[in-house]
Amino acid sequence: MKASLLLLGLPALGLAYPGMMGDMSREEALQMLREKRDAELVAESQPEKRQILSGLVGSVSQLVSDVGGLLGSVASSVDPADKRPEPGYTYKDPVSGDSRGPCPGLNLLANYGYLPRNGHVTFSEVLDATARGFNMGADLATVLLVFAVLTDGDIPTESFWLGSGPGKVGGLERHSTVEADISPNREDFYIGCGDNHHLSSRLFQQNVYYATQDPNKQFSLDCMSKQWAANGKFSVKHNPYLYYFPFPSIVATAAFNFYPNFFSNGTYGAGGVANYESISSIIGAKLNKNTGQFEYVPERWPVQGWYRRSTEYGAVQALTEAFTRIYPSYPVSMVFPQAQGGTLDAKTALCYIYQGLNSVTPLALAGEEQAAAAGITWALSKLLAVGLDGTTLGCPASTLSPNTYLYPNATNKGGPLNEPASVAANIGSNVYYKTYFTSAPTTPKCSHSS
Ligand code: HEM
Repeated sequence: MKASLLLLGLPALGLAYPGMMGDMSREEALQMLREKRDAELVAESQPEKRQILSGLVGSVSQLVSDVGGLLGSVASSVDPADKRPEPGYTYKDPVSGDSRGPCPGLNLLANYGYLPRNGHVTFSEVLDATARGFNMGADLATVLLVFAVLTDGDIPTESFWLGSGPGKVGGLERHSTVEADISPNREDFYIGCGDNHHLSSRLFQQNVYYATQDPNKQFSLDCMSKQWAANGKFSVKHNPYLYYFPFPSIVATAAFNFYPNFFSNGTYGAGGVANYESISSIIGAKLNKNTGQFEYVPERWPVQGWYRRSTEYGAVQALTEAFTRIYPSYPVSMVFPQAQGGTLDAKTALCYIYQGLNSVTPLALAGEEQAAAAGITWALSKLLAVGLDGTTLGCPASTLSPNTYLYPNATNKGGPLNEPASVAANIGSNVYYKTYFTSAPTTPKCSHSS
């Protein structure tokens, strides 16, 4: 990890990217987003919109028993070769000092030894383990990895930590790099008071409720799109520092479709089931029947037998589903002009990701020109290797601006450049066997575990 990473500031993210909103001036774009946000807040105050969580009134144990009808069911058509874990990979609880963070998929792989158990992982280890454990496509894994190494890790060794790195520096929980606000089952960085990485009990309660509403009682794409809409509305209303950079905002949206697509038992859409048993085990949510709250326990595959998807799930499918099945249920203002009109497609999103490198690289490397050039050369070579270069994608030549719209001043209190001391206390790798966020943090919740 470069020491300079410590000193960096997010606003450095390319203040010099004018004209990114097509023909719109910056002022016009700002005004448009303000109006959109105001309209969303008005909608939020209407009675029917306020019912989002009312379905949770009552017993969560009852909700779990409602979705429990599918407990024990195993995918109908599975290839025995897809059974996980494979012989030789055994589950072990992470021990003190092992780094675990906001990604349940990677945490789980480390708990079985598909990744180093201490949570310090390299690019090639993750590329291999995500394919082997979950059949993630190499292009999707590469996009995630390029940004993880650039913004949270160390380029010379192509490595990063799954939680926070030594001295609480870097790692996947570093905010607004790969980790982002509006996650499926983690709280926002600001209102979570720095805890963007532990499973939130109240969010998973809500997610279970939406699963009970699903015709097949599953954590389907429709179920996850409801979770997105509820979480998005909550963040827009309560998080004054909702900070949506191009890359992390795309990742956070796609993470909602990762639930059914990667955590189903069998192949989602081809007989696989995204049931409570599979999902809750993989994301480490354990119901306490007495309190109705979910304890956060280490991520593991269901012991009754679990099969990974039999086909790869890659970047184009992930982004297409993110922007056709998840995002439209609540189109949070993003920096991309296409997103405002609901026409963002996978190719355009990939171009934004590709061009976003221009703004992320100087962030990670503190504007040291030679190092920045080396960093971007490294990143582009990785993307080129999986066919995601700008020429192949047909990306326009213009560059992308950082999102200064929803978060106008990064040095405001609570911003990434001015974290309150209480936030620092919550930075660190995951601590399991605890319950986090039993109620919604409408203001920064700095003491939240029980
Ligand atoms: C390939 C390298 C990967 C990297 C660098 C990565 C990184 C991350 C990061 C930083 C987050 C936090 C995003 C947020 O704030 O919402 C996250 C969340 C997530 N990741 Fe990964 N991930 C990777 C692979 C995977 C795989 C293979 C899976 C599934 C098998 C997965 C499933 C998820 C899910 C479901 C979430 C959302 C968690 C939640 O809030 O409930 N990821 N990942």
